[in-house]
Amino acid sequence: MSQDIQAKIAQLTAELNEYNYQYYVLANPVISDYEFDIKLKELERLEKEYPQYRDPNSPTLKVGGDITCKFNTVKHRWPMLSLSNTYSEQELRDFDLRVQKAIGHPVDYVCELKFDGISISLTYEKGKLTHAVTRGDGMQGDEVTQNVKTIRKIPHQLKQGDYPDLFEIRGEIFMHKAAFLRLNKEREENGEQTYANPRNFTAGTIKLQDSSEVAKRPLDCFLYFLYMDNRNKLFSTHWESLQKVKEWGFPVSEHTKLCSSIDEVLEFIHYWDQARHKLSFEIDGIVIKVNEYPYQEELGFTAKSPRWATSFKFKAEQVETTLLSVSYQVGRTGVVTPVANLKPVPLAGTTVKRASLHNANEIARLDLHEGDSVFVEKGGEIIPKIIAANPEKRKPDAKPIVYPTHCPECNTPLIRQEGEAVHYCPNENGCKPQIVGKVQHFIGRKMMDIQGLGDETIETFYRLGLVRHISDLYTYITDAKSW
Ligand code: IVH
Repeated sequence: MSQDIQAKIAQLTAELNEYNYQYYVLANPVISDYEFDIKLKELERLEKEYPQYRDPNSPTLKVGGDITCKFNTVKHRWPMLSLSNTYSEQELRDFDLRVQKAIGHPVDYVCELKFDGISISLTYEKGKLTHAVTRGDGMQGDEVTQNVKTIRKIPHQLKQGDYPDLFEIRGEIFMHKAAFLRLNKEREENGEQTYANPRNFTAGTIKLQDSSEVAKRPLDCFLYFLYMDNRNKLFSTHWESLQKVKEWGFPVSEHTKLCSSIDEVLEFIHYWDQARHKLSFEIDGIVIKVNEYPYQEELGFTAKSPRWATSFKFKAEQVETTLLSVSYQVGRTGVVTPVANLKPVPLAGTTVKRASLHNANEIARLDLHEGDSVFVEKGGEIIPKIIAANPEKRKPDAKPIVYPTHCPECNTPLIRQEGEAVHYCPNENGCKPQIVGKVQHFIGRKMMDIQGLGDETIETFYRLGLVRHISDLYTYITDAKSW
């Protein structure tokens, strides 16, 4: 039993660390925020009960994020913490009760939109923007000042004002949905890799080495938190600080509300759960902050987030559409991945036509039938996923979707290794997508990086019977210039 728990903790730790790496370092999220948060909470619960099994590298102990080596690393004067989050109204009420208990009476909250972008910390010295730093690991981040300077709304030099000689202001950099769609389309037309959502596009952009390239991609920004020494001398509430920074020339969202009860907070949340779709940018929830600075100080922080703030996250958008067919793609390693072809449907800013079904287990879990009406979700607006089929709409004679027994490309019987979820085609030297995929991988940037030879040429070589193996590149084709 305790061994099982130890193994479960180790497995969740490894899994979540990998997701964090994909999300923060590669800007390539592989699961939805919701699924991530559920797993993280499960790990937190287990670690609380069995602290002896907690890994020193547990994702529960750190703010996600990482530092890339191409930029100067800068230490944050004030650590950049994360926010606790919940998807449940009851948990939000519990947060309010905890706050009330600590303070001794009800308090005011500032409700703000939770912008779905990249957090940034801006340092101003004598009114001049001197550093713009990403969150990184929360203690230190990447200096991306030149790139941030391309964002028109961020002042390089403040006008006269009653701001202190040194302060840091934090906020979120993001891309509007329309710009995202336009730029992604351009990338697709140019054969460049597209981004899954505006947040990813922003992350990829802010880390570009060439700021003239950044300038071509319209980024926007809202600021939402001020750090300075002796801030209490200037004002005593977060609300006042927001009005002030607006006066100093910073972009602050107008969709911010001062609430005097948790019911009012919930009203704000309900409003924005609907109205968010009309915004020109993506938000993934609402941030709730205790307004009075003295109360914030009394409440303090946990290891990774303030006790005086939390966030309510919206569940990913879902739509219902029809399953047209399932196709099976054979990858370079022979793994056969089922893909659902869907009746095109707009969802969170894009048209969804396909969704990954991962493997045979997933098809069985969903109990998919031909022509099913299915619920599709874009987890954190990322890769579309089928959440469930709607059996009520199923025709009585609909046939279940059956995973193939033979390779759809070469008809070899498929194999499934003991304990593994995926099926694969063992015919590695005779199955077209495996051969072409392997050769394409071999010539690619991550491997041999062979200049002047592209994926399409390999397809052509295959079609002409010139290439059946990587070694054929060297046997038959020797004069690189003639490619
Ligand atoms: S306040 C100590 N306000 O959400 C207070 N954060 O999940 C820290 N975010 O790292 C943040 N909108 O990148 C705050 N109105 C808002 C926000 C916001 C988006 C992001 C921010 C933060 C993350 C936490």
